[in-house]
Amino acid sequence: MLWFSMSEFLSVFLCLRRRYSSDKRVDGQVVVITVVSAKKPHFNTLQLDLCSLQSVRHFAKELSQLESKVDILINNAGVMICPEWQTTDGFEMQFGTNHLEIQMSEFLSVFLCLRRRYSSDKRVDGQVVVITGGNSGIGKETAFQLTLRGAKVYIGCRDMRKGDMAVHDIQAMNPKADITALQLDLCSLQSVRHFAKELSQLESKVDILINNAGVMICPEWQTTDGFEMQFGTNHLGHFLLTLHLIPLMKSPTKARIINLSSVFHTIGEINFQNINLRNGAYNPYQAYANSKLCNVIFTKQLATRLQGTGITAYCLHPGVVKTQLFQHKLWAQFLIHLLFMSPEMGCQTTLYCALDDQLANESGFYYDNCRRVSPNRMVRRATDDSIGRQLWELSADLVALETRLNI
Ligand SMILES: NC(=O)c1ccc[n+]([C@@H]2O[C@H](COP(=O)([O-])OP(=O)(O)OC[C@H]3O[C@@H](n4cnc5c(N)ncnc54)[C@H](OP(=O)(O)O)[C@@H]3O)[C@@H](O)[C@H]2O)c1
Repeated sequence: MLWFSMSEFLSVFLCLRRRYSSDKRVDGQVVVITVVSAKKPHFNTLQLDLCSLQSVRHFAKELSQLESKVDILINNAGVMICPEWQTTDGFEMQFGTNHLEIQMSEFLSVFLCLRRRYSSDKRVDGQVVVITGGNSGIGKETAFQLTLRGAKVYIGCRDMRKGDMAVHDIQAMNPKADITALQLDLCSLQSVRHFAKELSQLESKVDILINNAGVMICPEWQTTDGFEMQFGTNHLGHFLLTLHLIPLMKSPTKARIINLSSVFHTIGEINFQNINLRNGAYNPYQAYANSKLCNVIFTKQLATRLQGTGITAYCLHPGVVKTQLFQHKLWAQFLIHLLFMSPEMGCQTTLYCALDDQLANESGFYYDNCRRVSPNRMVRRATDDSIGRQLWELSADLVALETRLNI
C-alpha cells in the first residue's frame, strides 16, 4: 500500500505521469460519468445514488428517456476505506457502491440495447458439441441455438429428470434437434470420469466443449470429494472433464473449449494456502469470484499447453442473465425480472466464441459482449503464468489426474 503511494507521489512530483495528448474530438457523443458530486454548471446532472439499487434503476430509466444511445460510460464514482457502513439495500458500502456499480453498464446495455448479438448464420452440421449444465439458463439456450445450426449436442446434467425435460423442450421448439442428455455431476470426480467414458463410447470426436455449468453464492457446502462447492464444481470438475475429453478433441479438424467465467473474476483471488476457504475464511461472494478467476487462468494455461494441437480455448462473461443462478439470493429474485437479460441474449458471447471464424487462430483470451477484452485490461493475476502453472499443478493433484492425460 505504502509502496504504491510512493510511486504515485514520485510520478506526480517528477512529472512521470503521462497525459493523454491526442486532440481527438467526440462531438455529439453521449458520455455518462458517475461522480460523487457534480457541481460544475456545464454538466447535465441526473440524480444517481449508487448506494441504492432503486436509484440506479431510476437513473437508467431517466437516461433512456433522454437519449437513444450512450457512446461512453465511465464508472468513475467510488468510496474508499470508509467505516463499516451499509448501502440502502444492506450491502457493505464499498462492495455495494464500487462493485455493484459495474451492474450499471449492464442495466444501460439492456435498456439501450447495447448488448451485441452474434449475427453470423454459420452452420455446424454434424459437429459434436458437449455442454455442461445444459438443462437450464444460458446452457439450455446455447444447446437450442446450436441444434438449430445442425450440431449434434450432448448436455451433461446432474439431474436426469431436468435433462430429459430440457431435451423434450428443445425438440418441441426444433423437431430436427439432435440432442441427448447424459448424467454428469461436476461435484463428483467419479461422475465426471464416468461421463467422459460414456461419451467416448458414443462418439469418436468432440468438436466443441462448452464448460457452462456453475453454482453461485451458495452456503458453505462441500462437493462429494470434500472441496469447497464453488471451487469444486466451477473449476475442478471442469478441469478434470476437459482433460478427459482432450484426447477426443485431437482430431484432424479443429476443436474449441469454451469456459464460462464471469466479470466477478476481477475480484477473485487464488488462496493457495487455503484453496477451500476453510476455518472461517469462507465468503460466498469471494468463493464464487475465486472460482471464476480459476476459469480465466485455466483458459490461458490450456491455450499455452495446447499450442499446435488445433484445439483452442476461450473464456467469457455472458452478461447479467435471468437464470436459476441467483436462486440463493432473495434480492436478486426481485431484480432479475426487472433488469437482467434473457438467456437468448446471454448466450450470444458463447456462440461467438464457439463459432466465429475470426477466432480460429486466437486462444487463451477473455471475451465479453462478443468482443475480446484486451489482456492489458485484465487484472494481473488472471494472466500471470506462474499463478497459472501453480493452479494447474494443484488442480491435477487434487483431482488425482491420470498421468497419461496431463498436458
Ligand atoms: N446468469 C448470469 O448472470 C451469469 C453471469 C456471469 C456468469 N454466468 C455463468 O454462466 C454459467 C451458466 O449459468 P446460468 O446463469 O445459466 O445459471 P443456471 O440457469 O443456474 O444454470 C447452471 C447450470 O449448471 C448446472 N449445474 C450446477 N451444478 C452442477 C453440477 N454439480 N453438475 C452438473 N451441472 C451442474 C445446473 O444444473 P441444475 O439445474 O441441476 O441446478 C444448471 O443446469 C455459469 O457458469 C455462471 O457462472 C452467469
